[in-house]
Amino acid sequence: MKGHKWFAAIYDRMSAPEERRFMGEVRAEVAGGARGKILEIGAGTGLNFPHYRDGAQVMATEPDPFMRRRAERRLAESGKHVELREASAEQLPFDNDSFDTVVGTLVMCSVPHPQRALAEIKRVLKPGGEYRFYEHVRYESAFGAFWQDAVMPVWRWFAAGCHPNRDTVQAIRNAGFDVVELEKSKPLPLFRRWSLPVPT
Ligand SMILES: C[S@@+](CC[C@H](N)C(=O)[O-])C[C@H]1O[C@@H](n2cnc3c(N)ncnc32)[C@H](O)[C@@H]1O
Repeated sequence: MKGHKWFAAIYDRMSAPEERRFMGEVRAEVAGGARGKILEIGAGTGLNFPHYRDGAQVMATEPDPFMRRRAERRLAESGKHVELREASAEQLPFDNDSFDTVVGTLVMCSVPHPQRALAEIKRVLKPGGEYRFYEHVRYESAFGAFWQDAVMPVWRWFAAGCHPNRDTVQAIRNAGFDVVELEKSKPLPLFRRWSLPVPT
């Protein structure tokens, strides 16, 4: 993969408000709850790394060299046992039944071939293994989905291939996973309230 230099460069700064507001908690639950031999797909800049339990055995994969470079830095700071490798989720360089848990946060929107990626996740998971994910999904309302479809081409260009309109939970079910626990949260507000300092 050639990679997205500018998206990688702004990613942490752009996500910082959401990380503080709720994503930190999400990562603590999704990555912090991972057990056994763990595989993370599309690790990005490594924002999940600090949330793995101490002593967890984690193999992290990321195809974008610019993201990976940042993840390497974060890894050095995190003090966690994470091995970082170049790989796309559609072609995981691991044997069948190798992991107890696969972790993926905000990844299925960006992979070019989600069905292939989900088949790969299923292949490398041991029988009874767990895929722990956090993804933004297609609106259930026709109005919301219409807007997601409308903004998709521009958003995909800006956000390094991200498709805001994918029905990822259905895709996960179609791939043969039993969804045993699912929490849906409300869409993010489109506009944050701005406040300006008022001179006194
Ligand atoms: C929105 S970022 C999320 C990064 C990270 N998982 C997080 O939670 O902050 C999407 C990530 O998916 C990665 N990605 C894109 N195509 C991929 C593929 N085919 N396989 C695995 N990861 C991919 C991108 O390089 C990027 O790091």
